[in-house]
Amino acid sequence: MKVVLLGYMGCGKTTIGRKLSNSLYLDFTDLDQYIEKREGKMISEIFHEKGEIYFRKIESNYLKEFINKHDSFVLSLGGGTPCYGNNMIEIMNHKDVISFYLQASIQTLCQRVSYNPSKRPLLSSLSGNELTEYIAKHLFERSPFYEQATYKIVTNSKDWNTIVTEIRIKLH
Ligand code: S3P
Repeated sequence: MKVVLLGYMGCGKTTIGRKLSNSLYLDFTDLDQYIEKREGKMISEIFHEKGEIYFRKIESNYLKEFINKHDSFVLSLGGGTPCYGNNMIEIMNHKDVISFYLQASIQTLCQRVSYNPSKRPLLSSLSGNELTEYIAKHLFERSPFYEQATYKIVTNSKDWNTIVTEIRIKLH
């Protein structure tokens, strides 16, 4: 089984991915962590040293490499992965990949990303109203890409177990 989780920063892709993979006895990979391991650098370092365009290029390459190399997995993407290059087409072209858009409200996303702002270079300089406005606009731009996922799961106030169960129901 090949499962891809996508959605905006802070929607819970990594946490849910890990729990889902445990419950399905599948290997879990977080694309950001995969990139960090391969490049030997943190995502924030790659952004600062080489810029976002370089990051998007290697992100696309590693996504393709990963999907083509592995037969069974739960993979959580970065928040921007579906929105650049042909990444969403690449995912949809693999007929055996099932993708889930983990949708969360702007308020929920703001709360979640505020816990660890330095981890996310695109948001690290923002807080308060500025952060809310940025996320609202950014999410509006990105939603058409996220909406191409096979299924959409609304996550807002649900606990992780409920979300994992909802995903598993769709997989059966
Ligand atoms: C990004 C999201 C991050 C990471 C990078 C860019 C984005 O991943 O890939 O900082 O463009 O939304 P998370 O969604 O896991 O934070």
